[in-house]
Amino acid sequence: MLRLTVRKLLYLYCFTSVLIILGLLNYHVTDRENDDIEGEKLINQLLQEKLNEKQKELESLIQRITSYEDKLHRCRMLKPYQKNFNSSLPTIYLITPTYDRIEQKAELTRMYYTLLHVPNVHWILVEDSDRKTDKVRRFLTNCQIPYTHLNVATPEHVKLKSSDPNWLKPRGVLQRNAGLTWIRSSLNPRKNKGVVYFADDDNTYSVELFEEMRLTKKVSVWPVAMVGALRYESPICDKNSVTGWMVYFRPNRPFPIDMAGFAVNMQLFFDHPDAWFSNNVQRGYQESTILKLLSVTMADLEPRADKCTKILVWHTRTEKYNPKNEAKMKQKYGKGTDPNMEI
Ligand code: UGA
Ligand code: MN
Repeated sequence: MLRLTVRKLLYLYCFTSVLIILGLLNYHVTDRENDDIEGEKLINQLLQEKLNEKQKELESLIQRITSYEDKLHRCRMLKPYQKNFNSSLPTIYLITPTYDRIEQKAELTRMYYTLLHVPNVHWILVEDSDRKTDKVRRFLTNCQIPYTHLNVATPEHVKLKSSDPNWLKPRGVLQRNAGLTWIRSSLNPRKNKGVVYFADDDNTYSVELFEEMRLTKKVSVWPVAMVGALRYESPICDKNSVTGWMVYFRPNRPFPIDMAGFAVNMQLFFDHPDAWFSNNVQRGYQESTILKLLSVTMADLEPRADKCTKILVWHTRTEKYNPKNEAKMKQKYGKGTDPNMEI
């Protein structure tokens, strides 16, 4: 009887053990299945994240390739105009004040296309503005000549308003000074030989003019057309020296010459570190002021352009454009031009 119960108990023990083992096995298998599903989800999520990341990278690479292709296209387009850099030639540093207005990009484009024909030129473009504008930044990015982009705003009390006559206040003063600061702080006069020319953005320059000024010893001078309400203004020359001036407006100024009519050997700006333009000078005295501060005398002037007999620069001024039909067009036809179109 006892033996029977022990056997039964043994069977029961074996049976429950098997059940427990089976139960454990089953638990383990479903647990692993659950783990597998969770793991798979995690891997899928990680893979999706990686894929998104790679897609973003691909998009940015495509964008970069497109912009490089665009640049390459421009380089190919402009290459025929590029002259090789010649290390034996002094560089011409042009300081150009410029300000935001409808005509600005047209002026800069015209000037840039001239400069493309000039070897060893460095264009210092100075915006009359608190910050550099996207328009000029974009314009310069596509320029295939060495340039420096600066900005400084003309203070409100000396700033010309669009209703003012343009002679009322001086223009481009702080901008030219910013260009001079850049030259004095970035260039080494022992290594960098050069000539400084204050080239306003609205004049018309012959390519020949730059070769005339390139070998300036102190100050080169030449005639300027369409200025001072004359056909042209000019130094009067006798052989290789300047003896007087053909001008109508204030002929008694120390140097009655337009900004476009002279270029200065860069060394002079290092020899005279206090030579700056100023907003506090009489009308028409900007040029005389800077030349005086550079201790220039009449004897230092070097006549160029075939002893001042040729016109190589024109004081052109672009007529202010008035887009007066914009508002009328909206009224009449209910549509206007796209304000986002860059002109
Ligand atoms: C004449 C001379 O040619 C200038 O060199 C001289 O600075 C000016 O007179 C003066 O007496 O102040 P004008 O044609 O009357 O020039 O002047 P703009 O061409 O209107 O201005 C000269 C430069 O300054 C240009 O490059 C122009 O873009 C720039 N400018 C003009 C500014 O940077 N901000 C302004 O508000 C106006
Ligand atoms: Mn001008």
